[in-house]
Amino acid sequence: MSGAVLYGAPAPGLVEVPAGALQVSPLTPGSADLAGMADGSIDAAVVLAPGGTLERDAVLAQALRVLRPGGVLTALAPKDKGGSRLRKSLEAFGVTVAEDARRHHRFCRVVRPQAVVGLEAAIAAGAPRIVPALGFWSQPGVFSWDRLDPGSALLLQALPPLAGEGADLGCGVGVLAARVLASPAVTRLTGVELDRRAVECARRNLDDPRVTLRWADARQAGLEGLDFVVMNPPFHDGGAEDRDLGVAFVRAAAAMLRKGGTCWLVANRHLPYEAPLREAFASVDVRAEGGGYKVFEARR
Ligand SMILES: C[S@@+](CC[C@H](N)C(=O)[O-])C[C@H]1O[C@@H](n2cnc3c(N)ncnc32)[C@H](O)[C@@H]1O
Repeated sequence: MSGAVLYGAPAPGLVEVPAGALQVSPLTPGSADLAGMADGSIDAAVVLAPGGTLERDAVLAQALRVLRPGGVLTALAPKDKGGSRLRKSLEAFGVTVAEDARRHHRFCRVVRPQAVVGLEAAIAAGAPRIVPALGFWSQPGVFSWDRLDPGSALLLQALPPLAGEGADLGCGVGVLAARVLASPAVTRLTGVELDRRAVECARRNLDDPRVTLRWADARQAGLEGLDFVVMNPPFHDGGAEDRDLGVAFVRAAAAMLRKGGTCWLVANRHLPYEAPLREAFASVDVRAEGGGYKVFEARR
């Protein structure tokens, strides 16, 4: 193979992306996986580097691994989300970095030398593994990868045994799904998740014939007539975009449920989900509250 790869979705005009570059971000359903590409098989790579150290170093190492000697890596990141550490991360691989800054981002350009160091170790440090604190397969970069999220923990405390056919929207590595499946009255569960790495971990964590996993956008999951939905909708820093995403999850859940079906949802208390829940559902009750989170049971 030759050509270019693109990791992530830089804002339009932020960086030059070679025409026809193949998307390799795990957050783009259907994209290719850098890990499956041969050493030295790519001419150019543009990487919008993720913020987490282990994840970032593993992605940069994979990009350098697949680049041919003489190929060019352009790595960029917002200054306050790992951008200021980008150069150091790259230099640890024994490469020479040309750095510049614009539009609140750092840009690092590397011409891949013949010899690089430390790629295998960085790739191994970012690989999936069983995380003892979770008791699940997980991987740096997936949501709350090495600890139970407090919102999910509150939902787990409040969640009663469910029955029938349901979905876990944004299922991550399957923490909520595993609990749902503990009820023998559950006949079928579809986990929908945008992050391929999480889907692959969930596949290992949820070895159950009742489970179907989809690497897809939950807003377009095309499910209907369900008895229940569970979810801890995606949120980040409470930005407008994230609130809209959470509201879209609420509406998608309502559209998937049969009349009388229930949605169990946890959300940060400050996120305004109550109004959209009341619009989309016949009844809404708060079933638990604590640590800045609220658990709702909403009935269609
Ligand atoms: C708050 S986390 C919850 C994960 C898991 N359910 C748990 O409780 O640990 C939200 C999840 O939604 C996923 N996600 C974000 N946007 C999504 C979308 N449009 N469709 C499906 N999943 C999405 C994220 O990758 C993340 O795994």
